[in-house]
Amino acid sequence: MNKYMPIGNKFPHILHGGDYNPEQWLETPNIINEDFRLMKLAHCNTMTVGIFSWVALEPEEGKYRLDWLDDIMDRLAQNGMKAVLATPSGAKPPWMSQKYPEILRTQADRLKDLHGGRHNHCFTSPIYRKKVSRINRMLAERYGNHPALILWHISNEFSGECHCPLCQNEFRKFLQNKYDNDLERLNHEWWTGFWSHRYTDWSQIESPSPRGEHETHGLILDWKRFVSHQTIDFFKNEIKPLRELTPEVPVTTNLMGTFPGIEYRELAKELDVVSWDNYPTWHTTEQTDWKIGLRTSFVHDLNRSLKQGKPFMMMESTPSTVNWQKTNKLKRPGMHMLSSLQAVAHGSDTVQYFQWRKSRGSFEKFHGAVVDHSGHENTRVFRDVAQLGQALEKLDEVVGTTAHSQVAIIFDWENRWALEEAQALARERLQYEETCISHYAAFWKQGVTVDIIGAREDLSQYKLVIAPMLYMTHPGVGERIEAFVREGGTFVTTYWSGIVNENDLCHLGGFPGPLLGVTGIWSEEIDTLHADENNSLLMSENFLGLSGSYRVMDFCELIRPEAAQVLAVYGDDFYQGRPALTVNRFGKGDAYYMAARTGEEFLDDFYMALMEKLSLTRTIETKLPIGVTAQQRTDGQYRYIFIMNFNSKKEQISLNGIYTDMFTQVDKQGVLELDPFDVKVLKAKAK
Ligand code: GLA
Ligand code: ZN
Repeated sequence: MNKYMPIGNKFPHILHGGDYNPEQWLETPNIINEDFRLMKLAHCNTMTVGIFSWVALEPEEGKYRLDWLDDIMDRLAQNGMKAVLATPSGAKPPWMSQKYPEILRTQADRLKDLHGGRHNHCFTSPIYRKKVSRINRMLAERYGNHPALILWHISNEFSGECHCPLCQNEFRKFLQNKYDNDLERLNHEWWTGFWSHRYTDWSQIESPSPRGEHETHGLILDWKRFVSHQTIDFFKNEIKPLRELTPEVPVTTNLMGTFPGIEYRELAKELDVVSWDNYPTWHTTEQTDWKIGLRTSFVHDLNRSLKQGKPFMMMESTPSTVNWQKTNKLKRPGMHMLSSLQAVAHGSDTVQYFQWRKSRGSFEKFHGAVVDHSGHENTRVFRDVAQLGQALEKLDEVVGTTAHSQVAIIFDWENRWALEEAQALARERLQYEETCISHYAAFWKQGVTVDIIGAREDLSQYKLVIAPMLYMTHPGVGERIEAFVREGGTFVTTYWSGIVNENDLCHLGGFPGPLLGVTGIWSEEIDTLHADENNSLLMSENFLGLSGSYRVMDFCELIRPEAAQVLAVYGDDFYQGRPALTVNRFGKGDAYYMAARTGEEFLDDFYMALMEKLSLTRTIETKLPIGVTAQQRTDGQYRYIFIMNFNSKKEQISLNGIYTDMFTQVDKQGVLELDPFDVKVLKAKAK
């Protein structure tokens, strides 16, 4: 048996609960009493407390008020529940902004924010850092040994940047450190001879202006790196007293999926467990639900991969609706169970909500919650939550298990920063994230597990590594990909790869730069098609068993095979007949190059052929209808298989063996019927 420890070491259950702000209800103790009655009924076992509670904890500078939190922590413990305890730095009290304006954030136009909102402090301000550190120390001293405490939740959804003089200073220090105090090196790496931007003194360097797109690209890229670095540095300062006083209590902070502002792989290194907030736009008219489902699966897989397979937490989700989407639709019957178990399917050991109870006033009073303004349990949403809670109680043995992938897709933060900044092609159609998801889709449809990794990660455990638009190549990446393929790995990359180095300077001597050898092609030019234009890819003789023609769009690279073999050619335009898909035998492995952006049809067929060629393991060896996926977790002894129907109609699959239904304990074989938005959890012996 091979399992990770449960998040709370001595609490081997899937955590079920949500953000709870009793400090908003201190004048109505009967409501708090009701909360505890309802938590039991909802089968919740954990509450996240203290988020945005600073003014309730420290109403005046240095004067703490903790009686209410003592009471809540004690009552959680008495009820056999656990507390995820947050540090309050996500929002600061007005008295603090008034007394210490330094802590307010400064925008890119150098205007200082007024007090208001949240998530808006300076990440550098020594005063704010000191205040945060002090209140965190106090919380650790007070609750460090509390029986309810299971985890620290640091701040809330770190984001944004500050352009104040303190931050400018730190930015310069960051650059001096990066470029070994050598201004000439910085000038070279940023190519500042362009438009007369050469710096002659460090003091001339400032963060990018709001007219950033005409800014030096090297500057923009390093600024993004600095913002990420400074946020992580702030985080490290936050956890110092917690590490000192409660070294055995794990820490996390709630991430936001593919949020571009912070290099999450760097931040993840500082966390004991990864957690994220999941708010898919279910039931929109723009996209079918299964496409939203597959995008959500991609992000869950990313979160599992941030710590190399360690189970993560879905720290927030809504039990019904949010209040900030363009159209705030209710979850249709079945969707709450499905979307919650989807997280578990991909490796989450929790299902948590924003929020337990609707706030009576202000910004989120109409955001979905377990308990509505009506205040009782006789609601559809409450029943959905309670039903899910009961289901989760049957999944204790899934806690700590994980997925093992033979396939990895590279989705790299710094690559994305550089790629999306470059003035080229058709910027709004580059869509790095969408492109990675389009490759992922082919595997999701077949129920093949995928890891979502960074360009600097170890590749040796995978059979297949896919790097769509790997525009930027970090030092050493080319060599590592070569080593992976030489040893027998299969590598797939696409147009617009190997273009720049880590500081956004173009590779000289031909694209794809460090991937020239492994791909065995040279990319001479790239054509951008109009949004309504297409070309086609005609399959040549090939060992993949593909034939006919496929639609291509957006970007068509004109490549020259050097060592590579041509698998397909273009069907139209002046480059008709020139290679569009190649493969290069390199050592014991193969490297494929897709010169053009292909549609779903090609990706489905191409990856299906690779799945067969490489004998990749599918979760369940059966045909899945479109919109249905199967994902699994295992401890080596048993496999827990989640079959999920994201369609609003019934589907069926035929099982290839006997499986036990985890909820009914009934053995299933033959045809498995799936209701609209249905999910089944099946157990089988691992092979
Ligand atoms: C974010 C925040 C929560 C809440 C929700 C609403 O995830 O972390 O505090 O505002 O959004 O969807
Ligand atoms: Zn600042």
